Amino acid sequence: MAVDVLLGLQWGDEGKGKIVDVLTTNYDIIARFQGGPNAGHTLEFDGIKHVLHTIPSGIFHKGAINIIGNGVVIDPIIFENEIKEIDKLDVEMSELLISKKAHLILPTHKLLDAASEKAKGKNKIGSTLKGIGPTYMDKTGRNGLRVGDISASNFKERYEKLKRKHIQILNFYDFEYDLSELESKWFASLDTIRKFEHIESEHYLHNAIKEGKNILAEGAQGTLLDIDFGSYPFVTSSNTIAAGACTGLGIAPNKMEDVFGIFKAYCTRVGSGPFPTELFDEAGAHMGKVGNEFGATTGRARRCGWIDLPALKYAININGVTKLMMMKGDVLSGIDKIKVCTHYNFNGQKIDYLPFEANDGLTPIFQELEGWKEDLMKLEKLEDAPQSFHDYISYLERELETPITIVSVGPDRKQTFFK
Ligand code: GDP
Ligand code: IMO
Ligand code: MG
Repeated sequence: MAVDVLLGLQWGDEGKGKIVDVLTTNYDIIARFQGGPNAGHTLEFDGIKHVLHTIPSGIFHKGAINIIGNGVVIDPIIFENEIKEIDKLDVEMSELLISKKAHLILPTHKLLDAASEKAKGKNKIGSTLKGIGPTYMDKTGRNGLRVGDISASNFKERYEKLKRKHIQILNFYDFEYDLSELESKWFASLDTIRKFEHIESEHYLHNAIKEGKNILAEGAQGTLLDIDFGSYPFVTSSNTIAAGACTGLGIAPNKMEDVFGIFKAYCTRVGSGPFPTELFDEAGAHMGKVGNEFGATTGRARRCGWIDLPALKYAININGVTKLMMMKGDVLSGIDKIKVCTHYNFNGQKIDYLPFEANDGLTPIFQELEGWKEDLMKLEKLEDAPQSFHDYISYLERELETPITIVSVGPDRKQTFFK
């Protein structure tokens, strides 16, 4: 029996979807524990490139059971589209179960997201505008509607009541909207949610643990977007960290074994907020172009920069990471000297941690390492990689005091090495 957690250590888009897909052969159950359709998890195999938003990334493995946990927020319209997109593929979808306790994103939640961002003006979060923040606000405010409520006789009544509250806030924002089309689509798409079994996923998972099943908890976003520990307020509205797997699935901490932390060999961020190692030069443009750094959910260009060790160490500590996975090393091929941020200069002082006031005045201090020229995407064995690539991996393992157990050098399932 094992419950392992896989999550992002940076600002999201580290490659979680790819690695969950690769690892699913080792697990009976893949369970998403937080976030919603703000996530975009990309999988590539057998010539197929596919992006998932709400559905766990084990969905293309025959025999795997996929669970959308209580910590996830679901937009029925996006969920329906996800199912339609999977139906178009020439691959069978494995079993999918949905927690009755997962909260629903209402059409008005999306409007509220847009209104809030508009009101913030140039201080906007850069939200994906999927209604994530307002839905979690209603969850913690004890007003939300959940998947298990869909079949209740008073569902429509409760929906209308919540909608009325939302409309008052939209009026306060003086936000113009047209709800009718969105609303009828939303109600129609509930039928797709009804087609799947709704379960009390915590009981289901407790029984699975008793039966000795292997479970992988799949995170969304990344540690630096966590509501408590991220670069607040430029964060998402859920706990993206390992503890979020406990609350988002109802699994106790003493049942957790490995915590897999994924990071890119460099760093990206989409949306607003501090990014100490951000680049505005040729190297940054190289990362964006070669790494194809465009958001899988919104298509926005991702900001790119060098790897940030103080931020990574912070993320490793908060999550209790036992194994690291390094993604997209191939993207750095051709860059002469690779820089690694080891410390920051903060108000004239050299520090090695992310301060509370991280929003301003942090200047990275870099160490330079040798780059490599070879195309890593064509590698058949990790041993054949250039020495400077091996040196980069060893350097990071030493600095981060954690083993790197997977090295990914391309988007495809096959471009993955186990160390
Ligand atoms: P996630 O949100 O963490 O699942 O990551 P995304 O899917 O949003 O973004 C990762 C992007 O990098 C996707 O387009 C992947 O196909 C791609 N990718 C994943 N691993 C690698 C890799 O090792 N090399 C390259 N070049 N691309 C990768
Ligand atoms: P995956 O799972 C990258 C960012 C948004 C914005 C902030 C808040 O694919 O790694 P929200 O929509 O939650 O209100 O947005 O968080 N963000 C992500 N960035 N990857 C994601 O998910 C993200 N989900 C949200 O860009 O800055
Ligand atoms: Mg993504």
